[in-house]
Amino acid sequence: MNETRQSQVIVITSGKGGVGKTTSSSCIATGLAKEGYRTVVVDFDIGLRNLDLHMGCERRVVYDFINVVNGDVKLHQALIKDKRVSNLSILPASQTRDKDALSKEGVNNVLSQLREKFDFIICDSPAGIEKGAFLAMYHADQAIVVTNPEISSVRDSDRILGLLSTKTQKAEIGEQVKEHLLITRYNADRAEIGEMLSVKDIAAILSIPLIGVIPESEAVLTASNIGNPVINFPQTDAGQAYSDVIERLLGKKTKLRFVSPKQQIWEKFLNVFKRDKSQQEEIL
Ligand SMILES: Nc1ncnc2c1ncn2[C@@H]1O[C@H](COP(=O)(O)OP(=O)(O)OP(=O)(O)O)[C@@H](O)[C@H]1O
Ligand SMILES: [Mg+2]
Repeated sequence: MNETRQSQVIVITSGKGGVGKTTSSSCIATGLAKEGYRTVVVDFDIGLRNLDLHMGCERRVVYDFINVVNGDVKLHQALIKDKRVSNLSILPASQTRDKDALSKEGVNNVLSQLREKFDFIICDSPAGIEKGAFLAMYHADQAIVVTNPEISSVRDSDRILGLLSTKTQKAEIGEQVKEHLLITRYNADRAEIGEMLSVKDIAAILSIPLIGVIPESEAVLTASNIGNPVINFPQTDAGQAYSDVIERLLGKKTKLRFVSPKQQIWEKFLNVFKRDKSQQEEIL
């Protein structure tokens, strides 16, 4: 990143829990670092502490975000350098404290130190609309609203959009957080037959720009079980979809993938086969 450009704080948020925020935070941070940007991913989910598992560094956690907020240790003592990707650091959450251990002033202080060191600061938010989620979004320049193709998730995302436009530092000074919609766990076949909301439906309800669609994929669980973000597996569908998200975040107009039903391809194939067969019958 150009030295004169400001760092960007990106919050990965959602109303509903378990939609793929931590998966997305680990992949987006890894993807940006692979592009050469100095990147840190911060776990705001105090008490649960999942991000370090997704990043495969759980055994290396000595100090955490709360220790830095409380002034027990310096920031550099709590930052963990990723072993796979240079330029990437993780600031883990505490597992023993509860979410009230984060104070607004403490977070302000840590975020301003991170802005000096990094180009991108990715904040993995807890679900819901409680203190931890507010603190995670407060400093955001950009927000990625993670949504599953189901009505409850979409409705909760809509509530989060309301908060992003009122409860952030940007909102306080009359500016807007740049919002992006990320649809995860998408199954194009099921959307086609109306068992899930389609990309078009979700985008129409939330009416914010779409940054990507991540397919429902077994590769995500396999990757998180071995503590290696799925974006590090370029042969997988979800890995490719997250790489596309990085390209779009960096301003490229990358075409959407994994949004068309697989059945359609088979049906087309079968139609060609049927047509060939009837032509043969006509000739005979
Ligand atoms: N694209 C996907 N395909 C299949 N499974 C997925 C996908 N994305 C996430 N998951 C699974 O969904 C579950 C929740 O994911 P994750 O922990 O990233 O969500 P979260 O939003 O951070 O949850 P929480 O609100 O509890 O913090 C995990 O088991 C994860 O493996
Ligand atoms: Mg999470």
